[in-house]
Amino acid sequence: LTRVIPIALGERSYEVLIGAGLVARAGELISPLAASKRVFVVTDENVEALHGAALKSALEAGGLEVAMNAVLPPGEQTKSFRWLEWLTARLLEHGVERRDVVVAFGGGVVGDLAGFAAGIVKRGVDFVQMPTTLLAQVDSSVGGKTAIDTEQGKNLVGLFNQPRLVLADLDVLATLPEREARAGYAEIVKIGLIEDAAFFAWCEAHAGALLAADAPARAHAIHFAVAAKAAIVAADEKEQGKRALLNLGHTFAHALEAHGGYGAGLLHGEAVAAGMALAFRFAAQHGLCPRADAERVSAHLNAAGFITDLHQLSGAPFDPVRLAGLMAADKKNEGGQLTLILPRAIGDAFVQKHANAAAVAAFLQQATQ
Ligand SMILES: NC(=O)c1ccc[n+]([C@@H]2O[C@H](COP(=O)([O-])OP(=O)(O)OC[C@H]3O[C@@H](n4cnc5c(N)ncnc54)[C@H](O)[C@@H]3O)[C@@H](O)[C@H]2O)c1
Ligand SMILES: [Zn+2]
Repeated sequence: LTRVIPIALGERSYEVLIGAGLVARAGELISPLAASKRVFVVTDENVEALHGAALKSALEAGGLEVAMNAVLPPGEQTKSFRWLEWLTARLLEHGVERRDVVVAFGGGVVGDLAGFAAGIVKRGVDFVQMPTTLLAQVDSSVGGKTAIDTEQGKNLVGLFNQPRLVLADLDVLATLPEREARAGYAEIVKIGLIEDAAFFAWCEAHAGALLAADAPARAHAIHFAVAAKAAIVAADEKEQGKRALLNLGHTFAHALEAHGGYGAGLLHGEAVAAGMALAFRFAAQHGLCPRADAERVSAHLNAAGFITDLHQLSGAPFDPVRLAGLMAADKKNEGGQLTLILPRAIGDAFVQKHANAAAVAAFLQQATQ
């Protein structure tokens, strides 16, 4: 059973297909989008080794020519100017044209980098997202945000660039390591924390099954998270309002990731889990949210195997002054003032503009002491 979730964005509308066996059908599904019948595949070494041959034969079986197969090194450090330059050079060398389609086959790193490169090469070539991690299937492949990281901070250079189609094949998740599945789970539970207390309760009951690769639990969670994101993106494509809520925990998380230069072994989802726990703790400390909710969130994240104590997290020790400085560089800030996504309760997040930077700095001191 393949489920179809429409992303309603006027002339930029597209569909997210979620189901088993979609890699095998990639040729048939992508072919109508490629006038030239040529596709340019971007992937990483791990995905290439596990699933590359299956994708290539499916594309060819659908009548497509694989004009390029660019294989990136895996990991967050690939989301850089260096690899963006490398990828645009490969696309141009292989003669990419506007009637061709770029296929991003991998996790969020491949999707963010390939989507950015497709958006700037020849002023824009169409692209398709084929997310292969839980994180990419529930979050990064949907909504059109693409970016690279720089020394100044995460995702600070990029484009809004919507794909033409998203194919989320549940079967490819079978090879995903448990740690990567857990990282993806952070973006799933995030939806419950932002806007749906009942879904958070479902997460509490089903996280164990989901992490143990239970297929119905995964299918439900992916479908639910994509549908929630679809509604938010359709209402606010360019993040002028509600879409910012999807950044719950991310201002803290991005600072934690950038602190280690993206090479400290801290996964994005792990940073997000810690960041969401911090957002709840900060809100509780300032009387914005019940303390019991903050405790319940940390307890669940810890039970799911996340580390929320900054002393234990990959990349520790963290310098609180540097973290505060990195948070000050966040994209959501306005007029030099910090914007934070904070909870009023589980299932009820809000955008706090002009957040008290001194209070955040003091909180970070305390959390790292
Ligand atoms: N654009 C957005 O809206 C958005 C949203 C959320 C996150 N992101 C970004 O996504 C990135 C994180 O994505 P990610 O967690 O997918 O990381 P990733 O792309 O680094 O993939 C994680 C690891 O899993 C491996 N892998 C991928 N698919 C596999 C499979 N099927 N089997 C075995 N191994 C597999 C990869 O090679 C890699 O080592 C971050 O840079 C984050 O900023 C973007
Ligand atoms: Zn994220």
